[in-house]
Amino acid sequence: MTGRFAGKRIVITGSGRGLGFAFAERVAREGASVVIAEIDAASGHEAVRKLTAQGLKASFIETDISSETSMQALAKQLADGGAVHGVVANAGWANNVGGKTFDEIAPDVWDKMMAINVRGTWLTVRALVPLMQAGGSIVTVSSDTIYWGPPRLLHYVTSKSAIVGMTRSLARELGDRNIRVNCLLPGLTYGEATKEIPAQRWNDYAERQILKRRAESDDIDGVVAFLLSDDSKFMTGQTLAVDGGFSLH
Ligand SMILES: NC(=O)c1ccc[n+]([C@@H]2O[C@H](COP(=O)([O-])OP(=O)(O)OC[C@H]3O[C@@H](n4cnc5c(N)ncnc54)[C@H](O)[C@@H]3O)[C@@H](O)[C@H]2O)c1
Repeated sequence: MTGRFAGKRIVITGSGRGLGFAFAERVAREGASVVIAEIDAASGHEAVRKLTAQGLKASFIETDISSETSMQALAKQLADGGAVHGVVANAGWANNVGGKTFDEIAPDVWDKMMAINVRGTWLTVRALVPLMQAGGSIVTVSSDTIYWGPPRLLHYVTSKSAIVGMTRSLARELGDRNIRVNCLLPGLTYGEATKEIPAQRWNDYAERQILKRRAESDDIDGVVAFLLSDDSKFMTGQTLAVDGGFSLH
C-alpha cells in the first residue's frame, strides 16, 4: 500500500467509534496498519470489520486505558509485531458528562474522569513509548473547551486542560528519542457521542464559529494525519485547535 503511512504501525485508543474511528480510517487509507485499542469489544471488532472490508490493515486489541495492567498487556501484545510509529491517545470519557455545577459533581465521578482522561492518556504514552524505538509521533486529544471554559463541565474541562500541560512536558522528555508529542483540540464535532445534541444547540454553536457550520469528523482527521506524518516533522509540544474558529490562539 502506498501513502504517507506505508509500512507504519499506528495505535489509536478509543477508535471503535467516533473521532477515533475516523482517525483510524484516515491513516489506514494512507497506508498505515492500525491498531484499534478500545474498551468496547463489540465496536472494536466492528471497526476492524469495516476497515478490512475496504482492503485496509487493522487489528483490534481490547484495552482499558485507565488500567496499568491492561496497558502493559497491550504493549506486550504489540511487541511481537515490531515497532510502533504513531500513537493517538484519543480515548476519553466525553459523552453524557455535562449538566452538573462545580458543587454538584460527585467526588467519585471527578476521580473517574481523571482516571480515564488524564491517567489514561499518561498510561497510554508510558506503555507505548518503549515500542517507538525508531522514533515517531504521539497525538494527545484535548478539547477546545479548555479555551472558553463552559460551565457545568468542570471535571471534563479540567481533565482536558491537564492533557495540554502533559503534552508539553512529554514533548520535552521525549524529544531526544526522536518522538514528537502534539495536542489536538477539537471543537464540538458530530458523531456517536454528540448526535443527541438538539439542532438548536448545533446552530448556536456554529454561529459562534468563524466557519458557520456543524463540524464533522472529516474536518478533523486530516489534522491528525498531518500531526502523525513527517509533514509536521519539526513540530512538537504544540496545541492545535480545530474548531472552525470558535477559539483563536
Ligand atoms: N466529539 C466532540 O465533539 C469532541 C470535542 C472535543 C474533544 N473530543 C475528544 O475526542 C475524543 C473522542 O471523542 P468522541 O466524540 O469520538 O467520543 P466517543 O464517546 O464517540 O468515543 C470514545 C471512544 O473511547 C472509548 N473508551 C472510553 N473509555 C475508554 C477506556 N477506558 N479505554 C479505552 N477506550 C475507551 C469508547 O468506548 C469510545 O469508543 C475524546 O477524547 C473527546 O474528549 C471530542
